[in-house]
Amino acid sequence: MKTHIKTGDPMSPLVINIIIFYFNIMKKLIFLLMIIPLGSFGQSPNSDIKYTYKKGDVNGIGKWYMGREISRVMGFQGIGWLERSEREKEENVSNLIQNMRIESNDKIADIGSGSGYHVFRVAELAKNGMVYAVDIQTEMLEVIDSKIKSNKIKNVKTILGSEKSIELPNNSVNKILMVDVYHEFNFPKEMILSIKNALKPDGELFLVEYRGEDPSVPIKRIHKMSEKQAVKEMELGGFTLKENISNLPWQHFMVYIKNK
Ligand SMILES: C[S@@+](CC[C@H](N)C(=O)[O-])C[C@H]1O[C@@H](n2cnc3c(N)ncnc32)[C@H](O)[C@@H]1O
Repeated sequence: MKTHIKTGDPMSPLVINIIIFYFNIMKKLIFLLMIIPLGSFGQSPNSDIKYTYKKGDVNGIGKWYMGREISRVMGFQGIGWLERSEREKEENVSNLIQNMRIESNDKIADIGSGSGYHVFRVAELAKNGMVYAVDIQTEMLEVIDSKIKSNKIKNVKTILGSEKSIELPNNSVNKILMVDVYHEFNFPKEMILSIKNALKPDGELFLVEYRGEDPSVPIKRIHKMSEKQAVKEMELGGFTLKENISNLPWQHFMVYIKNK
């Protein structure tokens, strides 16, 4: 009786069956790989879209995403402008906060929080919840930390983000606010993915940007965004525009929800 197959021996029916069995499995695997969309492996639908590079606006970084040039990040030296006393009147910040329909136990992230102009207004309403102030500049977060300390605020935490991530766990917040920041993300597609992961399935993303379509808004074009451009980028990142609330003097207040 043969205990093993020698080279040159005719293959036994058993070996042929084993080969056919594995061949069929391989065929099925190749077929599955061809029909399963890349998104099923954790990649975002926008992962195919590339950044391009060409010289543009003096306030831009020469890097483009979906036809839009990304703007320079506002340095912490701009804190005075963010905290200016005319801001309430110019931007109707009370309406902006009202639009968020904050409930007392909301968990909210303010991405690109700057010196916390909106953070503390939001925290007053989310009394039993938590507000995460995320920024990439430690100088901005230090201003917030010192206000937290001096006013003994319990429901605000600062988070040092990176250019590609908001550094919050998956499904950790039900509202995300971004005021005047999205257009300056150096890696918008990575940021959208990180935001999408942190937002709970029924959560809302509030994208607030100076209106690009409106020449009467006294802000440089590179720091503005049109609704059309925002929708284009957000849709690719897996978000749908639910409504654009038009009660702010200069800004879009766009409410996005995650696609199911
Ligand atoms: C123009 S300021 C707006 C600050 C604040 N939202 C406000 O309206 O007062 C933009 C802020 O976004 C921050 N920023 C830029 N890119 C960021 C990123 N990838 N992640 C988090 N923050 C970012 C900047 O450091 C800056 O503090």
